[in-house]
Amino acid sequence: MTIAAPAIKKLTPLDIARRKGGEKIVCLTAYSTPMARLLDPIADLLLVGDSLGMVIYGFESTLPVTLEMMIAHGAAAVRGSRHACVIVDMPFGSYQESPAQAFQSAARIMAETGAAGIKLEGGEAMAETVRFLVDRGIPVLGHIGLQPQSVNVIGGFRAQGRSEADAARVMADARAAAQAGCFAIVIEGTSEPVARRATEAVHVPTIGIGASPACDGQILVTEDLLGLSGMQSPRFVKRYAELGPLVTAAATSYAEEVRAQRFPGPEHCYGPSSLDRTAIDKKTEKPAASTRTR
Ligand code: KIV
Repeated sequence: MTIAAPAIKKLTPLDIARRKGGEKIVCLTAYSTPMARLLDPIADLLLVGDSLGMVIYGFESTLPVTLEMMIAHGAAAVRGSRHACVIVDMPFGSYQESPAQAFQSAARIMAETGAAGIKLEGGEAMAETVRFLVDRGIPVLGHIGLQPQSVNVIGGFRAQGRSEADAARVMADARAAAQAGCFAIVIEGTSEPVARRATEAVHVPTIGIGASPACDGQILVTEDLLGLSGMQSPRFVKRYAELGPLVTAAATSYAEEVRAQRFPGPEHCYGPSSLDRTAIDKKTEKPAASTRTR
């Protein structure tokens, strides 16, 4: 008798939207199949963020990230996920020109990765585009507050919502993103009172990153919380592990063993298969004239 494995429920953008005001939504970034496999049973939402440009490609900002990169990493993360809702970031330049351009890019992401939706940065400025995408079947995760793709306009990675005018802009962006049809909104690097007010003001969940515990969920870049990003972390990151020194120690042991000829050991070597062995045994009985090896 075979016992069927329990069915795993794949979370959808609608499931995430329904979590407004309920149990906190756990979100993490994942850029690869192995990392997605590890995080998938734990997280509600996995974001293939364009932060990958800085975290794994070593760029100084997210601006050089291309649609092709996002599609390759998005497809990899989807292959490692059975439960979490996987969302892929739209990279800089792939959606800002027009709603039609955004649709072309988003449709490629959806078709070529199998992700459940896309994320794009911008509130009021992107409201028409969000509506255009949602009306055409593409779930959109909004992103307001600190928008890394606008780093050159805002003058650096600095917290938002700290002046009256800035707070009003974040609030207007939150309302615009929600009204345009975003199923949830990431609020990044925003002062606590403003993130709290924005969360109260919209009917969809907010997902904070450096935006207070008032948000309906939280997201962190996984490499930041693991101590693997190799960069100085922003104040809002909590390091849950320091894996960097573990990687260094493991690589150092490997290097020592290779140099001392202790690795590979006999247990890491392939013997001949039984078929090869018969052939080899025959050859050993009657050695051939020429014994050249490859
Ligand atoms: O690109 C990213 O990883 C993000 C999250 C930090 C929200 O946008």
